[in-house]
Amino acid sequence: MTNTGAYTYLDYAASTPLDPRVLDAMRPYFLDHFGNASSIHRLGQVAEAAISEAREVISALLGGEECQLIFTSGGTESDNLALRGIIDAWTSPGLPRILTTPVEHSAVLGTARHLADQGRCALDLLPVDRYGMVAPDDVRRAIRKDTALVSVIYANNEVGTINPIQEIGQICREMGIPFHTDAVQAAAHLPINIHDENIDLLSLGAHKFYGPKGVGALFVNHRLRLTAQISGGKQEMGMRAGSSPTPLIVGLAEALKISRLDLTSRNSNFAEMRGWLIDQVLQKVDRAVLTGHPVFRLPNHASFAFQQVDGSRLLMLLDARGFACSSGSACKVGTPAPSEVLTSMGFTKDWALGGLRVTVGKDTRDDDLERFAAVLPELINAARRSD
Ligand SMILES: Cc1ncc(COP(=O)(O)O)c(C=O)c1O
Repeated sequence: MTNTGAYTYLDYAASTPLDPRVLDAMRPYFLDHFGNASSIHRLGQVAEAAISEAREVISALLGGEECQLIFTSGGTESDNLALRGIIDAWTSPGLPRILTTPVEHSAVLGTARHLADQGRCALDLLPVDRYGMVAPDDVRRAIRKDTALVSVIYANNEVGTINPIQEIGQICREMGIPFHTDAVQAAAHLPINIHDENIDLLSLGAHKFYGPKGVGALFVNHRLRLTAQISGGKQEMGMRAGSSPTPLIVGLAEALKISRLDLTSRNSNFAEMRGWLIDQVLQKVDRAVLTGHPVFRLPNHASFAFQQVDGSRLLMLLDARGFACSSGSACKVGTPAPSEVLTSMGFTKDWALGGLRVTVGKDTRDDDLERFAAVLPELINAARRSD
C-alpha cells in the first residue's frame, strides 16, 4: 500500500518494500532448492552454491574481496558481532577501549554501553559538529594504545550526515587500530568500496535497499581476530552458527546488485525531490531548521527540527492525514526524551524533541511531496506545545 494516493510512505530509511525482482530471485530457494546448505546431497550443494555466488557478488560490489563476509540476521547483529567479537578477542593486558560517537544507531551505541556497563571495555565518545559529523583529526587525537576498535557510522540514520570514512579509515590503518563502520543506511545509496576506504569491518542490512528483512552481513578484514557470538554448527566459517537462510542471502545479493544499477541517476532524482522539500519546509514553517549536513547527506534524506513541537504527536497527526514519516528520536508519547543525536549536535531540548525525518524512495512522486508540503505547516501548528 505504498503511495496509493490515500497513504504515502516517506520512511524509506526505516525500511523499504521488497523489489519484485528480488522476490523472483529468492522464490526458487524457498520452493525448489530448499536443501540445507550444510547437507552433502545435491539439494544441499545447490543451496551452498547459491550462497557462495551471493558472497562473491556482494564482495565484488563492495570491494570486499580481501575480507571475510559473514551473513547475519541484519544490521543489528552485524554491529553486535563487530563490537562484541573484537572485545571478546582482546588478549593484550588491561581493559580494551571502544572509541565511537554519540550519533551511532543504538545497535552500536547500546552495545558499546552494555559492554562498558558490564566492565568488559572502556568507552570513549568522539565529539561531533553541529551537523553530526566526526572530524578525522579528533579520531587521531582520541586513539590510545588500548583502543581496541574505532566505530564511526557511515551515514547517520536520523540526520543523514555522511562521515569522512575514507580519511578516518586511513588514520586507523596508520595507527594499527581496527575500524568498523555501520553502513546500514549508506549501503543503499553510496558506492562504498571497503578496500579503497580502509574499512576493516562493515555492517549492512538488506531491508534498507529493497531486500528482505532478517538478513544482513558483516565484512571482516582477514587479519582481524573476532570471537563468534553464536555457537553451534560450523556455518559461516565458524563465525555464525545456524542453518543458512539461503533465500534471504540470495535476496540480499540481488537487492544490492539492483541498487547499484542506475545509482547515479536515481540519486540525482532523489536529491532533487529532497532539495525541493527542504526548501518548502524551511520557507513555510517558522522556527524550523534542517538537521544534518546540507551537502554531505544521504540523497534521499531530509530531516528537520521544529522548536516547541512534540515530535511524536506530529508523527501521529501526519499518519492520520496519510503520511508515514519518522522522527528518528527516542521520544515516546507521555515520556518525552529528546533525541540524543540532536542534543549531541548542540540542539537544546526545546528543539531536540521536535525532530522529523522524511525519506523518499523509488515509489515517491513529486505530487506526494507537494501534498506533504501543503499539509505540514498546519500539522506543525497543531503539534506545537504552548509551554
Ligand atoms: C544506521 C543503522 N544501523 C543499524 C540499524 C539496524 O539494522 P537492522 O534493522 O537490519 O537490524 C539501522 C536500522 O534502522 C540503522 O539505520
